[in-house]
Amino acid sequence: MLRTERPGDMLPVQALLEAAFGREDEAVLVNRLRECGAAVVTMVEEEEYEFMGHLLMSPVTINGEEGPWLGLAPLAVHPDWQGQGIGSDLVREGLDTALEMDWKAVVVLGDPAYYQRFGFRPASEFGLHCIYEVPAECFMAMELIPGSLATLRGEVLYHPVFDEVPQEQPEAM
Ligand SMILES: CC(C)(COP(=O)(O)OP(=O)(O)OC[C@H]1O[C@@H](n2cnc3c(N)ncnc32)[C@H](O)[C@@H]1OP(=O)(O)O)[C@@H](O)C(=O)NCCC(=O)NCCS
Repeated sequence: MLRTERPGDMLPVQALLEAAFGREDEAVLVNRLRECGAAVVTMVEEEEYEFMGHLLMSPVTINGEEGPWLGLAPLAVHPDWQGQGIGSDLVREGLDTALEMDWKAVVVLGDPAYYQRFGFRPASEFGLHCIYEVPAECFMAMELIPGSLATLRGEVLYHPVFDEVPQEQPEAM
C-alpha cells in the first residue's frame, strides 16, 4: 500500500531508513524535519506493517525567498525490496501529491540516470544551483506546473535542518 505517512509510522520508518542507508543520519534528519513541520510531503510503501519504502519532501528557498518549491530527500527503499519499482512508485506518487497540494516545482540532488525518468532536468537549465560540491548535473529540478521556474534564478537552499544533521549532502545517491 502506497500512502501518506501517519503519526504511528515514525518508528518503523526510522528502522527502514537505518536499514536503507546503513546509518542513523537520515533517520535523525527525517525526525527533525517532522518536528519542524517541514515534512510536507511524506509517502510510505507498506504491507501489513512491513515498511518497504519512504519518501519525504520539504520546502526549499530560492535566492532566500520561500515559495511553492520543494526538495525531495531522502528517498529510501529497504534493501530487501530494492530494484522492484518501489522507489519509482514513491517518486511518482510523491510528485502527484505535491501537485495536488499546490506545490509548483521540486528539486533533487541525486543520480541523473535515476531521476531523469521522472522528468527531472539539470537545475542549471533553469538557472538554479545548490550550495553542495557535487557535479552540476546531479542537482536537478522539475516544474510541476509548466513555466513555474521560468522567472527564477539563483541559489536553492534546503531546510536548515539539513545542515544540522551530519551527512554528505541532502540526496546521497
Ligand atoms: C535508490 C533507491 C531509493 C531506489 O529505489 P528502488 O526501489 O530500488 O528503485 P526502482 O526499483 O524504483 O528503480 C530501479 C532502477 O533504479 C536504478 N537504481 C537503483 N538504485 C540506484 C542508484 N543508487 N543509483 C542509480 N540508479 C539506481 C536501477 O538500476 C534500476 O534502473 P533500471 O530501471 O534502468 O533498470 C534504493 O535503492 C535505496 O533506497 N537505496 C539506498 C538509499 C539511497 O541511496 N537513497 C537514495 C538517495 S537519498
